[in-house]
Amino acid sequence: MPKPIHFLLIPVLFAIQVHNHVGFIKFSAPVPTFLSDLSLKAQYDYKMILENDTIPLKKQSGEFKAWATTYNVTNQYKQFDTDQNATRTDLNKNVTQLVSQLSRANNDITKILENSSLSIQEQKEAIEGLTEQQKEISVLMFIRRLFDPQDVISKKLSSTD
Ligand SMILES: *[C@@H]1O[C@H](CO)[C@@H](O)[C@H](O)[C@H]1NC(C)=O
Ligand SMILES: *[C@@H]1O[C@H](CO)[C@@H](O)[C@H](O)[C@H]1NC(C)=O
Ligand SMILES: *[C@@H]1O[C@H](CO)[C@@H](O)[C@H](O)[C@H]1NC(C)=O
Ligand SMILES: *[C@@H]1O[C@H](CO)[C@@H](O)[C@H](O)[C@H]1NC(C)=O
Ligand SMILES: *[C@@H]1O[C@H](CO)[C@@H](O)[C@H](O)[C@H]1NC(C)=O
Repeated sequence: MPKPIHFLLIPVLFAIQVHNHVGFIKFSAPVPTFLSDLSLKAQYDYKMILENDTIPLKKQSGEFKAWATTYNVTNQYKQFDTDQNATRTDLNKNVTQLVSQLSRANNDITKILENSSLSIQEQKEAIEGLTEQQKEISVLMFIRRLFDPQDVISKKLSSTD
């Protein structure tokens, strides 16, 4: 896929990669920091549980707990699990909030794009000037490109100058 996808996904991929290495073992998701203090066997066992995509999550949770008991890290694991849950709740909340704000941001953007007193350059600047709405703008530009890969304004906004 060309540029449009990168525009949204690169920051996400980067954020994940910061956390998913322990020594030379690579994990598909963020892992607890205390994992690096454990044996290679413990790390490998953790990886096997983590990277099973077909296990029901409730069962996986049980396997992680058993793993934590085996390697005597129940408290640390519980803390990690609590943090992960809080992050997930937070993420869902953020997504819901962003979605609910898209319609309004789209109205603001449309108003600018329909204003024929402005040049393309001025429209670009006016949209960038909607500073509290950078995430909404990114999403809306992504949607515009889904419908029209040649959309001039979303191209202008994604190119850094
Ligand atoms: C993943 O979990 C399922 C369900 O518990 C199990 O049948 C399967 O063997 C596991 N796969 C791996 C690679 O461990
Ligand atoms: C488990 O860890 C605690 C402290 O972290 C230690 O006091 C205890 O001896 C350990 N138990 C085993 C079975 O390794
Ligand atoms: C985290 O969430 C899962 C799924 O909702 C739940 O089963 C688990 O008990 C939670 N863990 C903690 C420590 O609250
Ligand atoms: C949710 O949004 C808040 C406020 O923008 C931010 O601080 C937090 O890191 C976000 N959390 C997630 C998981 O997206
Ligand atoms: C169009 O842009 C001009 C210049 O910024 C502004 O004065 C005018 O109010 C805008 N028109 C509408 C309909 O927003």
